[in-house]
Amino acid sequence: MAGKRDQYKSKYTADNRIPGAFDGETMTRRRFMTASAHTAGAVAAASFTIPALGFALAPVFERVPHRWEIAGPTDLFVENNYVPVVVTMQPDLGEVGKQTVYIRKHNDKLDTDRYDSDPRTHPFIAISNRCTHAGCPVRWVEAAERFVCPCHGSVFNILGVRVGGPAPRPLDRFYVRVRNGNVEIGPRYSVNSELRPFSPRGPGEPVDGIGQYLYPAQFDERK
Ligand code: FES
Repeated sequence: MAGKRDQYKSKYTADNRIPGAFDGETMTRRRFMTASAHTAGAVAAASFTIPALGFALAPVFERVPHRWEIAGPTDLFVENNYVPVVVTMQPDLGEVGKQTVYIRKHNDKLDTDRYDSDPRTHPFIAISNRCTHAGCPVRWVEAAERFVCPCHGSVFNILGVRVGGPAPRPLDRFYVRVRNGNVEIGPRYSVNSELRPFSPRGPGEPVDGIGQYLYPAQFDERK
């Protein structure tokens, strides 16, 4: 019994003869300060990293609404020019949820890229007016056959591919279908400089080269 009692180590610092210990104290002040400093450091680090992680991962969980909006009758659109149509993308946001989409008919001479050359899958081309640099509204300039961004000068050709300025990728596009004689606009998608489709990305996010791996893809509810 005595041996066991000798092996017993009290939890109180005073019993263990630690210099400067107080009665009833179970942790040395040095240990307490060290633990406090580590906790404060962890809280400070978390306050930076958790919001940053949330910001980075939020697009992954963003649901792209599965809705089709009527843009107008098929004969409203032509092959060589874009018609701007205001489409409601998110009805719950009122005016903010509306967006201008530039639409034209499929053009065999223009739409020769392997991703959009089939008029059965791409009967109409619908291009977003949101600049892929920082989201400013681009304007279609018919005389120059260019989309021009007023904010920082990005310029896109008739296919929406960037030809100048800081935009990191072509203008986004929308899925299109024809129902009951109407052109309907579906979910947005992004494209790289070869017009290869990608899940929708945010402003400033490239999809060419390594850029396609750096930014999280967003889920798409299309079936
Ligand atoms: S937002 Fe268009 S160039 Fe910057």
